[in-house]
Amino acid sequence: MEAPLRVRLALLLFIFVHLSLHTKSFSQELQIINAERRIDLTTHIVTVFLTLKVENLGASPASEVLLAFSPTEVEHLALVKAAATTGKRKKKTYVPLDVNSVELPDAPNGTKYFSIALVTPLSKGDTATIEVLYRLTHSLEPFPVEISQSESQLVYFRDSAILLSPYHVKQQTTFIKTPSTRVESFTMVEPTKRAGTELKYGPYDNRAPYSYLPILVHFENNNPFAVVEELEREVEISHWGSIQVTERYRLFHAGARHKGVFSRVEYQTRPGAVGASSFKHLLARLPPRVHSVYYRDEIGNISSSHLRSDFLKSELEIEPRFPLFGGWKATFVIGYGLPLQDFLFESPDGRRYLNFTFGCPLVETVVDKLVLKVVLPEGSKDPRAEVPFPVEQRLETKYSYLDVVGRTVVVLEKKNVVPEHNNPFQVYYSFNPIFMLAEPLMLLVFKKIILSKSEVAKDLS
Ligand SMILES: *[C@@H]1O[C@H](CO)[C@@H](O)[C@H](O)[C@H]1NC(C)=O
Ligand SMILES: *[C@@H]1O[C@H](CO)[C@@H](O)[C@H](O)[C@H]1NC(C)=O
Ligand SMILES: *[C@@H]1O[C@H](CO)[C@@H](O)[C@H](O)[C@H]1NC(C)=O
Repeated sequence: MEAPLRVRLALLLFIFVHLSLHTKSFSQELQIINAERRIDLTTHIVTVFLTLKVENLGASPASEVLLAFSPTEVEHLALVKAAATTGKRKKKTYVPLDVNSVELPDAPNGTKYFSIALVTPLSKGDTATIEVLYRLTHSLEPFPVEISQSESQLVYFRDSAILLSPYHVKQQTTFIKTPSTRVESFTMVEPTKRAGTELKYGPYDNRAPYSYLPILVHFENNNPFAVVEELEREVEISHWGSIQVTERYRLFHAGARHKGVFSRVEYQTRPGAVGASSFKHLLARLPPRVHSVYYRDEIGNISSSHLRSDFLKSELEIEPRFPLFGGWKATFVIGYGLPLQDFLFESPDGRRYLNFTFGCPLVETVVDKLVLKVVLPEGSKDPRAEVPFPVEQRLETKYSYLDVVGRTVVVLEKKNVVPEHNNPFQVYYSFNPIFMLAEPLMLLVFKKIILSKSEVAKDLS
């Protein structure tokens, strides 16, 4: 059935108005008075601190500030956070701001945008200082791509000497911090200075919107390029007093591929000098009061792990069977128990909730894909998860041998996870205590069956 012409016209008009409103709300006449970028390349996750001093030149109040990223950057962007700051140094106060990805028409060269929502709109002539933190994964490219056991790892980092921005930038400077003083080469964009482990680009004055000047820095980085291709964490709640956590890791050394044969003798006799980019130990930060910790791989239990615990945290240092070189993988499982009362609470409406930490316990690690499964006790109903950032959610059912109806499993999935995602999250659910009786009853029934079977066996003999 075809809609009457008038309706179609109205619809078109509506779409048109909607689009133009959308565009208009972002065409605020803002300018950046000063931009300072500090890019930290000391680990394998790129960290950028950006400070923007923004001014509204337009007549109408501005409630949003746009950040621009190249399509490649957006692909590797794990996190963007922003805060409005006032005052200086010790007296500085931070007000966290919402950041959301937005689509804008006519984005030059596939530019992607994030919009920072200001708490108080900027009036004409007003300025605001905004601090932004973002992290990029898989953004250091090993070159050479293959190194031998005795070579240092070198990597490329690509960016622009000029901040990519939809606004006019009056003045800007970029500082790049490298892990060591060994810098093979870097693009010069006058003025460019290098001192110790720092490269300084700028100051540059009056750059037009969307200015871009590619730079390439080639430098040494022997930090562990620890990437967990997939991590599955299962958090099982039992109302009998404990939480059992099982974590399955598929770890990968994402640095320059190891070339030639691995010499354990050379590795052990010249520690430090050999296999500088390899890693031998991994550190997992676990909650305090952790117990029954185990660590195993395909072959079996590995005893070479050390647990240090205090009332604030527990640190588990694990040592894979062999050191990990570029391109090598290790698959292992870590398991532990936790006291229920540290993580399970009752909300004011009488529902129970688990308050646990998202992310990966291994320090400074990227997780390409994290699957977090919360196994609720049998008889739990209406689960609802609250996570402070977008994650994919679904429900599954898990059966263990004593379950009557199976357990509800809340599955949370997220790609490109960095340590900043180690935030508390909650899973709320309703629970009928009568179900606590299910397991003992089942055990009784089981015993009966076994008993009667053995009686039969006796009778036969
Ligand atoms: C966009 O692409 C054009 C043509 O490839 C290039 O000249 C221009 O510098 C690019 N602009 C940006 C912001 O990358
Ligand atoms: C490995 O350790 C776990 C937990 O300590 C234990 O239950 C299991 O029996 C051990 N397995 C082997 C093969 O030693
Ligand atoms: C969850 O735990 C964290 C500390 O681990 C605490 O700061 C936060 O308030 C808790 N959230 C809820 C909803 O209980």
